[in-house]
Formats: sequence, C-alpha cells, structure tokens
Amino acid sequence: MASSPTFPTIEASAHRPALLTCNWSGSALKIETTLHQLSPYIGKLKSSIAGSLISQFTQVGDVVYDPFSGSGTVALEAWAAGRNVLANDLSPYAALLTRAKLFPYRSLEDALNDIERLSGEADQEQGDIDLRSVPAWVRQFFHTETLRETLAWTRVLKRRRRWFMLAALLGILHHQRPGFLSFPSSHTVPYLRVKAFPRAKFPDLYEYRSLRDRLEAKVKRAFRRVPELDFNLDRRCFLKSAHLLTPEATVDAIVTSPPYMRQLDYARDNRLRLWFLGIDDHRSLDRKISPREDAFLKLMRQCFIKWKTILRPQKYCVLVIGDASRQVEDGNLPEIISRIATHEVGGYSHVHDYTETIPNERRVRRGLTGSTSETIVILRNNASRAKSTA
Ligand SMILES: C[S@@+](CC[C@H](N)C(=O)[O-])C[C@H]1O[C@@H](n2cnc3c(N)ncnc32)[C@H](O)[C@@H]1O
Repeated sequence: MASSPTFPTIEASAHRPALLTCNWSGSALKIETTLHQLSPYIGKLKSSIAGSLISQFTQVGDVVYDPFSGSGTVALEAWAAGRNVLANDLSPYAALLTRAKLFPYRSLEDALNDIERLSGEADQEQGDIDLRSVPAWVRQFFHTETLRETLAWTRVLKRRRRWFMLAALLGILHHQRPGFLSFPSSHTVPYLRVKAFPRAKFPDLYEYRSLRDRLEAKVKRAFRRVPELDFNLDRRCFLKSAHLLTPEATVDAIVTSPPYMRQLDYARDNRLRLWFLGIDDHRSLDRKISPREDAFLKLMRQCFIKWKTILRPQKYCVLVIGDASRQVEDGNLPEIISRIATHEVGGYSHVHDYTETIPNERRVRRGLTGSTSETIVILRNNASRAKSTA
C-alpha cells in the first residue's frame, strides 16, 4: 500500500502563514464535486490541493484570481468556498471549461429542460451540415451520423451561448466507453484505439451513437455531487494572455498553476475538442500556451510585473509549480521563479516553498524508482497598505 505523505504544519506568523496540515494523497474523485469532472484536462490540479490553498490563503468574500485557470479547478473551489472569482486562460477549451464551472445550471432539472428545449433546433440544424468540410483526421473518430449530430449540437450550443452544455458535450466526445460519442479512443488525449478494439471483433463499438441520451447521462453525472453555491458572488472569465490582463479591480489573492508543469502540449492534447471549438491549427495555439523554458520564464517575468498592479498590498501569490526537482538551465525552477519575482521584478517577498513528495507507488508509470514532487511557491506583494491607500 502507498504510504501517505505527511504534511508538516508550519507555524503561522506575520511573515509565514501556516499551511494546512492535510492529506492530499489518494484520489479526490469520490469526494470532490462532480462538476470538476465535466470534461478532462491534462495538467489539471488536484481539487483537494486547490481547496486547501484557497482556505489557507484567502478569506470568505475575497476576490481570488487564477490567471492560468485551465479546467477551472481553482476557480470552482474558490467559488464553492464563498470567494468572488476572476479566471483567465488563453486556450479556448480551458476558458470554456472554466466558464462552464463558474456558470453552471442552477439545478439538474434546469439542465435537462434545456436539452429538451434545444433538441428540436439541433435536429433542424443537421440538415445544414456538410461533412465534406470536416477534415479526415476528425472524421475518423466518428460514425457519420454521430458526427453530424455532434456538429449540429455544437453549432446550436455556441449560437445559444450554452457554455456549460457545450463543455458537457466535449466531455463525452471521445473514449471507448458506451456513454461517449467516438469510436474507441482514449479519453484525455485523442488517440483511436483500433488495435486494442479491432472493428471485426468489436463491431458494436463502431455503430451509430445517439447524442441526446448520452448528453443527458453526462449532465446527470455532473450534477451527482454539487455543493451549495452562492450565485450572487462575482465570477468573471477571460480568454487572454495572462500578462496582458488588467482586471477592473484589484484582487486579494492569486492562486494558480502556470503552464510549465510537465512540459505539456495543452493544445495538441486537446486537439479534437479544440477543433469543435473552431481551432483547426493546434500547433499555432501551442506556440502560445505551451511555452518552453525561455518563453515560460519571460512570461512569468511579465506576469509578475502585471500582477504587482493587480494584487493588493501584503496579499499572497500562490504558484503551484509542479516538479521542483526538475532542473532548468540555471538551477531549480521554484528558486528561479522566486528570484524573478523578488529580485528581477522586485516588490515581492518569498514567503515559503512547500513540496509534496509523491511516493513511487502513486506514480502513473510503475516500476520507476524514486519519487516525484509538487512544489508550491508562496510570494507576497510587499507594497505597504499605507502607501497604496495614500
Ligand atoms: C497547468 S495548466 C492549469 C491547470 C489548472 N490549474 C487546472 O486545474 O486545470 C496551465 C494553463 O495555462 C494556460 N496558459 C498557457 N499560457 C498562457 C498565457 N500566456 N496566458 C493565459 N493562459 C495560459 C494553458 O492553456 C493551461 O491551461
């Protein structure tokens, strides 16, 4: 059995907040709100980590900002904990998921009624779909009629600005399970699994899959476990590069995981879902949202400059950096990020680094020795309250 990592409690003081002593090990899937499971996202932060950072570094009523919101984990945890939320991501798929989680239907009944309302329009829309304009790499994932329905529903949901429903639809786009729309393929990153499930042996997996019943089932799964949410709290979503976004008002905390975690290709890994959102060149998008080392460090520098003007004095900037042991050219990544904030840009103090060691038993690839880790860098905006209000 995997041994649970222990979390040291750090003494709280004016300069050093106490990190919650909590156990982030194991899966959060059975306890988190099922809204988190609306659609997969590579590089998603564990909701239990996001939740404890929110309760540790922010207070009820605060404005929490996640400039690299991905699938909206921090955003949803913050909202569910009674915070106002500002969220941003440059990927249209990520921005859609974040928006969906911050603006869900108020009840399952509302969502199911909306499917009923929209289905006539989606049926009509099918007549206008010309599958010849769909690229072959997309067509190979679907039965022709399933693809036609999926395109029709996508158009209607976009036109009607039903972002939650569109996210739910993308959440059932590909997998080999019966509740999904594609031929057998993987769930997170779109790869057909025709070798594992050859058509001759599994003909039923290649038949037409009707959309509406699957979408209803998906929405029911999403509403299985929903916390009490205060719809009066302020929630805003943006689709910008983080270093360019200037919100209307200042924020009480920045809690985020920047795009360096494991050198992921956020657009390539989501290329099929992005295609349905109108992005047919995932490589160009990856040049913007999946920066390599130099571009990443430059982006962080620009963000720290911008965030000084956004983050209230003496408030925290909490960065989940990923594997601290990974070396970048000039040393260790958390150290480099702290140095950029505190020395190159200035105006921040480094409060603490926190590392969770993930034992080998929990790693996805078995048989590897050693352990990996998740490092959280905590910075504070040094500006004095008196000066900022003067
Ligand atoms: C590590 S992921 C965030 C994951 C998120 N915490 C979650 O739980 O899903 C980093 C995100 O940064 C986004 N990103 C990359 N470059 C960006 C930029 N310049 N501005 C805004 N977002 C960016 C990527 O699209 C990606 O979703």
